[in-house]
Amino acid sequence: MGIDPDPLVSGEQTLRFRIRDLAHEDLDGVMAIEKESFPSPWSRALFEEEIGRGFSDAIVAVDVPGGSVAGYAICWTVGYESHLLNIAVRPDARNQGVGRSLLKECIRRGVRAGGRTITLEVRAGNEPALSLYRRDGFRFTGVRRGYYTDTGEDAIVLLREIGEDDAV
Ligand SMILES: CC(C)(COP(=O)(O)OP(=O)(O)OC[C@H]1O[C@@H](n2cnc3c(N)ncnc32)[C@H](O)[C@@H]1OP(=O)(O)O)[C@@H](O)C(=O)NCCC(=O)NCCS
Repeated sequence: MGIDPDPLVSGEQTLRFRIRDLAHEDLDGVMAIEKESFPSPWSRALFEEEIGRGFSDAIVAVDVPGGSVAGYAICWTVGYESHLLNIAVRPDARNQGVGRSLLKECIRRGVRAGGRTITLEVRAGNEPALSLYRRDGFRFTGVRRGYYTDTGEDAIVLLREIGEDDAV
């Protein structure tokens, strides 16, 4: 006997969070994480453009209780193709399942929007991200040499089929 947990609230003892659509009030938190996470952060204007854009799933994980932004992800679905453009988790919230949950929710929404594959680019030296994607079933499809002009790093291109099993 018992009450099933809210499927949008996850995490073990240390961190509880829920995932919802990105809103304008989240942008200060998103920008703080973005600047800490990437050598060439997106501008605030780029995130603003994603809010309410028809083909974009822009989502945030927020702390429960509290509501601070723990992470976010942006994914586009056009035709049969979804593409993960951005995902990051607040440094003190990493390694607690937030990234995996955001990725899962992007894929779920991508399937519902008609996506059959999801692709992404990741820096060749980004082990935490590569590990996250490998564990989730992404496979290597190519390398874009020198894709990241800020550091000259190569991009690894990864792809995964997505389908009804991911939509639940
Ligand atoms: C990549 C990132 C989003 C992962 O988020 P996270 O919330 O820490 O990840 P999770 O806790 O959900 O972990 C999921 C899996 O990722 C991998 N992972 C996460 N952190 C890792 C680390 N420091 N080293 C190696 N693997 C790691 C593991 O495979 C892990 O699975 P496991 O817990 O079963 O071992 C986060 O490290 C981050 O924000 N990095 C900076 C931004 C970035 O690089 N984004 C990706 C751009 S392509």
